[in-house]
Amino acid sequence: MKIISVVGARPNFMKIAPFCHAIERWNQKSEVGGQKSEIEHILVHTGQHYDERMSAKFFDALNIPRPDIDLEVGSGTHAEQVGNTMIAFEKVLKQHRPDWVVVVGDVNATCACSITAKKEHIKVAHIEAGLRSFDMEMPEEINRLVTDRLSDLLLTPDQLSNENLRKEGFPEDRIQFVGNIMIDTLEEHRDTAGQMDPAAIIKSNILCPEQFQHFNVSAFQRLPFSLLTMHRPSNVDRPEVLGPILDFLLDDVCANMPLIWPIHPRTQKQLQSFGLWEKALAAPNLILLHPIGYHEMLRLNMDATVMLTDSGGLQEECCVLGTPCLTLRWNTERPITLREHGGASVLVGNNVDRLRAEFHTTLQSPRTPQRPELWDGHTADRIVQALLARQ
Ligand code: UD1
Repeated sequence: MKIISVVGARPNFMKIAPFCHAIERWNQKSEVGGQKSEIEHILVHTGQHYDERMSAKFFDALNIPRPDIDLEVGSGTHAEQVGNTMIAFEKVLKQHRPDWVVVVGDVNATCACSITAKKEHIKVAHIEAGLRSFDMEMPEEINRLVTDRLSDLLLTPDQLSNENLRKEGFPEDRIQFVGNIMIDTLEEHRDTAGQMDPAAIIKSNILCPEQFQHFNVSAFQRLPFSLLTMHRPSNVDRPEVLGPILDFLLDDVCANMPLIWPIHPRTQKQLQSFGLWEKALAAPNLILLHPIGYHEMLRLNMDATVMLTDSGGLQEECCVLGTPCLTLRWNTERPITLREHGGASVLVGNNVDRLRAEFHTTLQSPRTPQRPELWDGHTADRIVQALLARQ
């Protein structure tokens, strides 16, 4: 069996790593009736994320093989990213003719490659199928809907996703509940991350070394701290939204404890273009970092008093680690991570009054780790078996 799997952007890397390793494990042991049934695996990187810190660093840390093919699509509008990916990926498919194209998550690469594969009459499997925010303003929701509609095999992370697909009329034989593949990565790397020193993480990733003047990093191990990530267009693309969020962070969060903010390139660009960058740089107790690596984020998440984030993946990691999480969104495609379903996260949108109230409530919340069904570290092996059963 020949599989092409696709990655494009940072949140894809922790989902594809366990899949690559599960294929390697299968190939090492596969011997069916004396005959080898090896899987030939070709890894394609579309190049949507291309910075060393947003991409290459993750391949090294997660032990992902170098991509066999790099489409080098880079930045652009949505149409440019999707269009350029489709043009380049079509050539790859015509040359290699795989049995399956495996896509993960909800980024532009996911959607572009599933459309291209389907038009080439190649079967598509979607890892992380069935998630729905029901918010068509989100580019990721459009990517999820298109990808699921075209997929021959819908590999779901939780029972709520199964229900979404059933309501949309997908037949049972296309849906397979396999669990959350991100948690395979978390379990594999938890011990390594746990041995890291938070102060060393800050030192080696600090964005502006002048910030050391305000902050005693060596005292850091003893201090509570908050952790922030933010990159969604709905939070960072308008000054009337981003400005008040920044004020809340400085006036409320930083007034209580240091706030560590590994900043996404999109967010940095927007702060600079709205004239807010200098204010952020000058703020005491705000520690701006470059985008950090997987182990580094996991380590900080293990100790954070509270997480503030608009990332879906971090919501899931907070659920398993038990970190109280303020989700800076009005909806989520991952309701299983919310407090009402036993998780650690609460939706706070970007209304500053609501953020402030929930932040102070959350400071009193204890860590309560949760493990939804099949978030057990063995999802990738179940996916390989599901593909082999349908070859
Ligand atoms: C993308 C995904 C989102 C995911 C996020 C995680 C889509 C529609 N969105 O959003 O689902 O949660 O990644 O990071 O696919 N840039 C760099 N260096 C890079 C990558 C991007 O400077 O390595 C810049 C680009 O020039 C662009 C901006 O960051 O201006 C945004 O990148 P883009 O790929 O458009 O989307 P993300 O906001 O990262």
